[in-house]
Amino acid sequence: MLNWDDPLAPPSPPPTAEPGTPPPVAEEIAPRETVVRADIEPISMDPVNPEDKRVINGLTDINQLAPFKYPWAWEYFLNANKNHWTPLDINMAQDVHDYQHNMTLEERHVYENVLSYLTTSDILAMRNIGLAVMEKMSAPELQIYQARQVYEEALHTWTYQHCIETIGLDQGEIYNRYRVVPEINQKIQIANRRLNSVLRADIDLRDRDELENFLIAYTFFGGIFEGCWFYNGFSPIFALQRRGLMKGTAEQFQYIMRDEVLHASFGIRVVKQIIKEEEIQLDPKAIREMWEEAEAAEAAYAGYILRDPILGYSREDHIGQFRFVANRRARQLGHQEPFPGAECTLPWLDEQANLRKEKNFFETTVTEYQTGGALSWD
Ligand SMILES: [Fe+2]
Ligand SMILES: [Fe+2]
Repeated sequence: MLNWDDPLAPPSPPPTAEPGTPPPVAEEIAPRETVVRADIEPISMDPVNPEDKRVINGLTDINQLAPFKYPWAWEYFLNANKNHWTPLDINMAQDVHDYQHNMTLEERHVYENVLSYLTTSDILAMRNIGLAVMEKMSAPELQIYQARQVYEEALHTWTYQHCIETIGLDQGEIYNRYRVVPEINQKIQIANRRLNSVLRADIDLRDRDELENFLIAYTFFGGIFEGCWFYNGFSPIFALQRRGLMKGTAEQFQYIMRDEVLHASFGIRVVKQIIKEEEIQLDPKAIREMWEEAEAAEAAYAGYILRDPILGYSREDHIGQFRFVANRRARQLGHQEPFPGAECTLPWLDEQANLRKEKNFFETTVTEYQTGGALSWD
């Protein structure tokens, strides 16, 4: 039997009655009086009209899911639930061997710093969506997907922790690295600054300046932090995977990347919807500066993790791919391309990042839950 007071305790056997004990008699429960509270405001009995819903600043009942005004948000939720896994589903035994015997010092440097950056970032992403964004939404179908997103960010953090633990890395050192490596710290600081500017109880999105700042912060998280930095952040590990190294970690990252592609695309869609509903224009100069700052930070990061190139992946590849993906995200957002002429430097990436169904049953569990066919990265 489950112990309801301590669910993690080992199950206890069901209690057995002494022989001859009469069965317990149910206590009689007195009927409750119906109390009409004079201090509670009467609410309208009319069902919510979906046309009245708004992404933010709405006044419709936030507890009433349907009818939907944003059916696409519900679709995101249903799709997110097709990508279902835990890090324990993936066999990491070969990764332990690879790390100890098959990796060069330069490859280990890349691997450790990618993990160190990603694990700090995913906690930040969870705090952003769960604490700063979700509470500002006034349509429940948006919050439902974002609640799933919060869970997924926690799952990603578990995944990195599982990799760090399994490989046997020094946890204290890996988790602290973002504080002592300036090139990692810079990216985290930029995100922290955006997050802190919208993580305030007194924020009022009816104020146009506050609204614009919130939209730029959400654009940053959806379009850059998740849409470019995360998206690009897995590539060095996929480059190792192409050479047969750290395949377990790479498979974990394939699952995470599926989630992140949805997060980025959802964030971009919400931002565009708010811009339309609130009839607001974002300052093009602020947007341009955001992309430039993101590129400079990414270039410094690439310079650190790839100070010595590894076989099949260089810092130029990393930065070039960032610019290429940034243009794609900017087009989705309706911005001008920030890096005109940027070309794809990792033509193998989309193929490598897609999970394949054929697996060796003795190496890994089949965890292909995606039933919607091939994923479009846009
Ligand atoms: Fe994540
Ligand atoms: Fe995310």
